Parts: sequence; C-alpha cells; structure tokens
Amino acid sequence: MEFRGITKAFPGVKALENVSFDLKAGEVHVIVGENGAGKSTLMKILAGAYTCDEGEILLEGKPIVGNSPKVSMELGIRMIYQELNLVPELSIAANMFLGHEIKTGPIVNKGEQVRRSRAILEDLGLQTDPTTLVKNLGIGTQQMVEIGKALSTNAKVLVFDEPTSSLTDSEIREMFRIIRLLKSRGVGMFYISHRLEELFEIGDRVTVLRDGKHIMTDDIHNLEMKQIIEHIAGRKIDTLYPHTKKKIGSPCLEIEDLSGERFKKVSITVHSGEILGLSGLVGAGRSEVARAAFGIDGYYEGSVRVMGKRIPKKSPDKAKRAGMCLLPEDRKVEGLALSLSIRENTVVSSLSDLNPLGFIQRKKEHTTVSGFIDRLNIATSSMEKLTRFLSGGTQQKVVLAKWLLSQSKIFIFDEPTRGIDVGARNSIYELMDNLVAEGAAILMISSDLPEVLGMSDRICVMSGGTVVGEFDKEQANQQEILRLAFSNV
Ligand SMILES: Nc1ncnc2c1ncn2[C@@H]1O[C@H](COP(=O)(O)OP(=O)(O)OP(=O)(O)O)[C@@H](O)[C@H]1O
Ligand SMILES: [Mg+2]
Repeated sequence: MEFRGITKAFPGVKALENVSFDLKAGEVHVIVGENGAGKSTLMKILAGAYTCDEGEILLEGKPIVGNSPKVSMELGIRMIYQELNLVPELSIAANMFLGHEIKTGPIVNKGEQVRRSRAILEDLGLQTDPTTLVKNLGIGTQQMVEIGKALSTNAKVLVFDEPTSSLTDSEIREMFRIIRLLKSRGVGMFYISHRLEELFEIGDRVTVLRDGKHIMTDDIHNLEMKQIIEHIAGRKIDTLYPHTKKKIGSPCLEIEDLSGERFKKVSITVHSGEILGLSGLVGAGRSEVARAAFGIDGYYEGSVRVMGKRIPKKSPDKAKRAGMCLLPEDRKVEGLALSLSIRENTVVSSLSDLNPLGFIQRKKEHTTVSGFIDRLNIATSSMEKLTRFLSGGTQQKVVLAKWLLSQSKIFIFDEPTRGIDVGARNSIYELMDNLVAEGAAILMISSDLPEVLGMSDRICVMSGGTVVGEFDKEQANQQEILRLAFSNV
C-alpha cells in the first residue's frame, strides 16, 4: 500500500503535511518520531477513523475511495492498538468473530466459531482454549487474541501502534515470533515504537516523521542507531545519558525487609545525590514495592524511612509531606486529569510552592510551564490545551513535568520514559541529573536496560518478588542483569 501526499490539520496543529511513503507485502516497516509527530494520526487515517484533508491511499495500486472503518476492514487493513479493544466478559472465540459472526440462518454458530478460533490460535502456535473468557487472560495473550482476530478476516496490512509497552519480555519474544510468521506469509506490517532497540530486531525499513512531515525512509541496514536518533530529534545528541556521578550523601529513603502480597523481604536504600536503578522483568514486583513504600498499598512486615524518619503504612499524604513522590507506571489512570489543561495539570501539585503569598502568581506559573513545554518539546499549540487532545507520549510528558516541578527530595520514577520520544528522554535525563546534583535521591524503576545502565549509579535487580543482586555502575553489564532478572521467576 502507499500513502500519497497525506495532509491533516486539527484546530491549531498541522498533524500531517504532505506525507508519502509505501509498505511492501511481507515487510515490517517501522515508523518512529517524536511524541505528537503524527504517527497515530496517519494510522487512523489508514484505518478510516479519520479522514485526511488532502492526499490519497493506494492499496495494490488502486486508490481507496470513501475510506471508513468498515471499508478499510473489508480491504484487509487491521490495527492492533496499545489499548486493546477486546470485550473482557466474552470468550476468545466470541471476541474473534465480533461483528462478523458465523451464522447458521439467524443463529450464531458458536461451535464453528470455537473450531475456527482454535485453528487460528494453533496456527499462531498458541495452546489457549478459545472458550476462555478474555478477562482471565494476561495482557500478552490478549494481544495475541487481538492479532488472531485480525487474522480471522484475512488481513493484508497490519498496524501495531506501540504494542510492547505493557508486555513482559517473553510476551514480546512471542509477538516477534508471530510477526515473523506473518511476514513469511506476505502480510505487510507497520510497527510504531519508541523502543529503538526493537526496530533493529524486527524492522526491514524505517520511516521517520517529525512535526507531521516525512523526514526519511530507508533500509534499516543502511542506518545506525545514532543517525536514527538524530533524524527523530532533528538535532545532534552527543550523549543520550548525560548523568555523571555526584557527591553521595546520607540515606534519604530506606526500605527495610519489606514484605507484601507480591514481594518478600525487600531492602533498598537510596542516598542523597544518587540514582538507583531498579531493574527486572515486568511482573518482578518492582512497582508493588514502590507503591507500598509510598503508601498507596499496604504491606505485611518491614519499615520505610524517609530522612531517617519512619513513615507509617498506607499514608501517602505523610510520605508526600516527608518529601517523597511517586511517578506511577499507569499514568493515564493515576497521573493526569484529562479534562484539565496542560498548565493546570503541571502546576496542580506544586501550587503552594508557586504561591507563597496565597494568590495565584500567574506570571511565574506561566514562565514555569512554558519552560517545560520548551524543554520537553511538548507538542501543543497552547498550554491551555486540554490534555485529552494530546498524543499518548505528550500526555506522559505532562505528568513528568508535574513531578519534576514538585519540591520533593525523593523521587520514585516508575518507567519514567515509557512511550516518550528519544529527544525528550534526553531532556528528562538531564533534569534527573540536575535533581541529584541538588541533593535529591532517585529510585528509577525501568525495564529499559540501556536506560538503567546509562543513568544509574547503582543497580538493584528484582526477580520473583525479591532483590536478587546489586551492582555498582562500573561492574554492571547487560548479560549479568538479565541472568539475575530471570533467576527467580
Ligand atoms: N483528536 C484530536 N484533536 C486535536 N488534536 C489532535 C487530535 N489527535 C491528534 N492531535 C494532535 O495531532 C498531533 C499528532 O498526534 P499523534 O497522536 O498522531 O502523534 P504520535 O506521533 O502518535 O505521538 P505519540 O508518540 O506520543 O503517540 C499532536 O499535536 C496531537 O496533539
Ligand atoms: Mg501515537
């Protein structure tokens, strides 16, 4: 298929400007670009969810006329979104044939649907029983069902929009296996991701978009990581990880022998001036420890101290007052008020700091917020834009800005750069480096190994709910961390 001169504007933004490139049968075509570059918008136009202002899409040489979700579906174009579109209360089989049920007369032929679903799952190498309710499946298997659903209708073009951000390592392997299988059958695939290592593993060609414009398309083998990063950011980035060792002070956060539902006897100390990376596989219990330490969830045994002072269980307010903050993993639910603007979201937790005299210091607020918009390159026409209209990654940036602004001493960042483009990541790392230079302590939970290795002074590895190893920056390497991460699963 081919995009020809696609242009699309939203009020105040040109989301896409004269974008042209193509997709071959049996190819994995990776699309990368900053948050708000227009990647999802382009895919939604392909899916018929949005109409473009100008341009056309050709499928097998013929223009698609009057595109709509129904038309694109009939043509064999399928989307796998990050937020899955399955109905939890229905079985796998019912989900797979939702909207195009197999019928005998007026009645849905459930037996036949189950039989065909089983064939599709087996074809993908999955052993799951098709009568299982979707709500009883892990997120990875749900993703596979979503792919199976796409295949139940003979997909020619498959789009993955940030599919791996909530998958575990082995689920990602499994998905890549299926992608390779589909490739060998001639399915053309677009693959959007901010995890650049993935693109070398799975991609054949890569396209970079920036500010709604097509920057380049090339064979992945003609490119190096550094070049791709610079195309994405549109500037030179000397070191992605700017963190240098600071003066390490006294302990700020002491988690001692903490045991809870999904972790056991976890002890972690973070000092002033230090970034401690907490590595491990998705599901190792890292977020659970963080949530218990901050007081969102309870725990059975152990203690949490901030600046030497014990923080009682289940009291996030006290933790906050003691100078601790937690950037949660699931930002959509916990981090952002979607009906408020960028400005309101950014300053909400630090209003008292900005208003020492008790009235809103508009000007200071304005300067602070526009500073962040600048620094994190937040794609928006105005700071008054409601956050619900922002691209996924741009929403993440707003949540981050909010926390970076808070006058905390201890920062727990849970997957701080997930879904965030590489240019802004660089700025976030600089901000983290500044924080520890001023004496803050950072506990950084991350599944991104290059990030852990690049930014941490010390690295703890968790597996199966316990801490299984610890390294200084100098001793740490990828193989050893991975070996430990798998050691207790
Ligand atoms: N429904 C909408 N109304 C207004 N603006 C929109 C809408 N959808 C997207 N935009 C804007 O269009 C631009 C492109 O957004 P898009 O979601 O395509 O970015 P993206 O490349 O997918 O980013 P990310 O990597 O963060 O997912 C952004 O500036 C975004 O705010
Ligand atoms: Mg997107």
